[in-house]
Amino acid sequence: MRCKNFYYKDDELLCDGLKIKKIVQEYSTPVFIYSELHIRENLNQINKVINGKQITVCYAVKANPALNILKLAGTENLGFDVVSEGEMRRVLASSPGQKKIVFSGVGKTDEEIRFALQNEVFCLNVESLPELNRVNMVAKSLNVRAPVSIRINPDVNPDTHPYIATGLRENKFGLSIDDGMIAYKTAQSLPFIDVKGIDCHIGSQILSLEPFEQATNKVLNFIDRLIKETGVVLSHINLGGGLGISYSDKEHPPSLENFLSLTSDIVINWYNKRGLNPPHLLFELGRSIVGNSGILVAKVLYLKSTMDSNGKNFAVVDAAMNDLVRPTLYNAHHEVVPVILNKKTRSSIWEIVGPICESGDWLAKNRELRLLEGDLISFLSAGAYCSSMASNYNSRRKPVEVMVNCDGSVREIVRRESYDEIFNREIT
Ligand code: LLP
Repeated sequence: MRCKNFYYKDDELLCDGLKIKKIVQEYSTPVFIYSELHIRENLNQINKVINGKQITVCYAVKANPALNILKLAGTENLGFDVVSEGEMRRVLASSPGQKKIVFSGVGKTDEEIRFALQNEVFCLNVESLPELNRVNMVAKSLNVRAPVSIRINPDVNPDTHPYIATGLRENKFGLSIDDGMIAYKTAQSLPFIDVKGIDCHIGSQILSLEPFEQATNKVLNFIDRLIKETGVVLSHINLGGGLGISYSDKEHPPSLENFLSLTSDIVINWYNKRGLNPPHLLFELGRSIVGNSGILVAKVLYLKSTMDSNGKNFAVVDAAMNDLVRPTLYNAHHEVVPVILNKKTRSSIWEIVGPICESGDWLAKNRELRLLEGDLISFLSAGAYCSSMASNYNSRRKPVEVMVNCDGSVREIVRRESYDEIFNREIT
């Protein structure tokens, strides 16, 4: 099974020993179900590689910002990568006093910069010269020196969906090699800027180590030039995130362990060769930690077939693009499996759609399944960028989210939204 903590026993889908059907009886559908064991196993893999080395893995909050998951990451010694004040507030709410927070993003507002500095952010990842000047101004108003890193755009093709490639010259992210050099020189003259590091992030759902290798080498070449031209000594290098997961049999990503070992070895060897002390290494990983830890379970409401020659079978379910937007947004594939294997019904090819009033509201296409109305189906690999991208479109409530504990019991981690919560910000 794609998500290895979800498996069949006696034709029923289980998560770490607990029947999915039982969870649905208690919490109804649509419901996101996560395996704590899966997340812990990934965190253990990370900590095994770190093992006393100067490496910090920051959990990219955007992948799944549930406070419970942040708390888990925090207690397992991870830092955090945030891209908004809201995300930073989530981290502080789940791990009060957390000091290992890096703040990324091309459009930080003055308020966000101020909030980050007042709450002792580890580093602001700066993405443009105007932003560098703005950070200097805000830091001056607080009379502090802002810890910053400059995000370099290494112009590397990560071979992923164009919407989630970020390290190409044409992308809005970071600074080119030449502009980056100007940024470091400018930073030296800004009294409220404390240059700490360098960062890059080339994209997401990357399935081979090669682009990471290329980006790391480009960053190191940049550092070589930086040392020669400015004498700036960096205390950390942040190589971002982007490691992919397997959504179908076609994808075979490297393990977290291989990704972390390969990239950190390149850096450590480079410094050792020059007789220099390697700086602290940071990573910002999201999907590879939580992506395959979760599923979304929905109920089949109606089976509807069109009768013409190009006839299609639609399975209308009670989850929709507002709960799982990745298929319609990126043409993304999430495997679909039944909660109870039904061997008697004839199998057909289905397009699985939601109740939203748009033809773009599809969750899966061309799936061979044995379906009956009332069946429960699961969309796999729904732990990252699913609940975090959910919306209230069509005034639909966001789903409930539950965690299967390591001992096979279950806890609710996000309540199903109430209708009051949907419109209680409105003034009539
Ligand atoms: N660091 C930065 C600066 C990022 O922009 C991202 C993701 C990450 C770290 C974490 O990347 P990860 O390890 O999770 O690949 N909504 C898309 C994914 C967007 C990723 C945006 N940036 C999807 O559903 O595939």
